[in-house]
Amino acid sequence: MKEKLAQIREKALAQIKSTDSLDKLNEVRISFLGKKGELTEVLKGMKDVAPEDRPQVGQIVNDTRAAIEEVLENAKKEISSKMRELQMKAEVIDVTLPAKKNNVGHCHPNTLALKEVKKIFMGMGYEVVEGPEVEFDYYNFEALNIPANHPAKDEQDTFYINDKIVLRTQTSSVQVHEMEKGHLPIRMISPGRVFRSDEVDATHSPCFHQVEGLVIDENITFADLKGTLALFAKELFGPDTKVKFRPHHFPFTEPSAEMDVSCFKCGGIGCRFCKGEGWIEILGCGMVHPHVFEMSGIDNDKYTGFAFGIGLERIALLKYEIDDMRLLYENDIRFLKQF
Ligand code: DAH
Repeated sequence: MKEKLAQIREKALAQIKSTDSLDKLNEVRISFLGKKGELTEVLKGMKDVAPEDRPQVGQIVNDTRAAIEEVLENAKKEISSKMRELQMKAEVIDVTLPAKKNNVGHCHPNTLALKEVKKIFMGMGYEVVEGPEVEFDYYNFEALNIPANHPAKDEQDTFYINDKIVLRTQTSSVQVHEMEKGHLPIRMISPGRVFRSDEVDATHSPCFHQVEGLVIDENITFADLKGTLALFAKELFGPDTKVKFRPHHFPFTEPSAEMDVSCFKCGGIGCRFCKGEGWIEILGCGMVHPHVFEMSGIDNDKYTGFAFGIGLERIALLKYEIDDMRLLYENDIRFLKQF
């Protein structure tokens, strides 16, 4: 029996020594000290030991168990600390590594262009106002001197919600809202989205942006219009920019004009950028039509005013020398990153 116990002890210690995980260590413990373990089996054989030898054998059994337990405990501590060490090594943080780069976006070219337009007009004391994108036919057409049978109302270039409601085709509708408020004088710009049932190509989109302008006060003349818009053009495209007004027709202004700026690429000689013209059209404008004043309840004996409408995309395309409007809407990051 003593021999058997010595063997068990040897065997257990050897197994413990070659164990490298807590799970395996537990298995070893069960196989020797568990209910059906080898040492427990030996204990069951005590009844065959002569009674006078039992205390001594009992003592050896206890010593063996204690020895195995002690070695098990030490091994457990050792393995635990080794594992902890490995874990610490694996989780080590290298504080010298370069930080992950945070990709911060920036404003869209349209927004950049709008910011600039706003800055110029705010510098001249204009207020920036907003109007609805879903608009009554009345504000978009009627009140702007565009009666029911006017070709500009054609279903083909207007998105109708129903007979009376449309997606606004121009920001000029905001003029009417402002005039109806009746707080005079008015000096405002109104940027926003407009919608037309157009096919997408390099210069058209069913949704684009305009910046409307309206000034109403006593003694406002075409000279004020010219001075204001010439200053705007110089601020936007540089101090050498010249402007040219060509007669045009808009139903809500009389007289009306389109304004061209001298090509800021060639200075007006004619180049690829201005298609050899030397001039680039940037906006429509005119003196507010007396009938428009009348419909919105403004005394047209006392007040006069001018209005203008700028295509925002057109400004962005010119300023940033972009040759296809679609690029502004596709949101290709490789394109947008360049601004
Ligand atoms: N609303 C016009 C358009 O969409 C642009 C325009 C022209 C606006 C002349 C005006 C203006 O305020 O006076 O084509």
